[in-house]
Amino acid sequence: MVLTKNLLVASSFCFLLAACGGNETVEDTTKPVSNEPISLEDARAVYTLNCASCHGPDGTLQASNAKDLSVSKLNEGEIEHMIRKGNDKGMMPYEEMLSTAEIKGVVKFVQNLRK
Ligand code: HEC
Repeated sequence: MVLTKNLLVASSFCFLLAACGGNETVEDTTKPVSNEPISLEDARAVYTLNCASCHGPDGTLQASNAKDLSVSKLNEGEIEHMIRKGNDKGMMPYEEMLSTAEIKGVVKFVQNLRK
């Protein structure tokens, strides 16, 4: 009788452990901060999410007085500076919102919008 009871306790303990083990496999959704360069496709996604509302998918929209990126003459460093710091004419600063890798990727993407 005592033995049976112990077995029962032991098996329910195992069951609890299994349940706990199951919880550990829950996916961690927090993104690791990485400075690995991002692909042009990923850069397009970042651009679409953050920039297309003013600049349009091809850079030419000019909503909210945004500049046409397809005719921009800024060099790589100037584009990066603009994205990081923004300016007082309506361009927003993205330094706090995007990682360095994302900014560098978007700089390349912006350069690719030129005709
Ligand atoms: C709220 C609207 C808005 C959003 C969103 C926005 N921009 Fe702009 N952007 C502007 C405006 C307005 C200007 C023009 C500022 C000026 O007249 O100097 C500008 C200018 C620029 C320029 C300089 C172009 C030139 O030749 O002078 C670049 C490059 C640029 N934006 C890139 C981006 C990128 C990349 C993003 C997304 C990460 C972005 N912008 C998001 C409004 C926006």
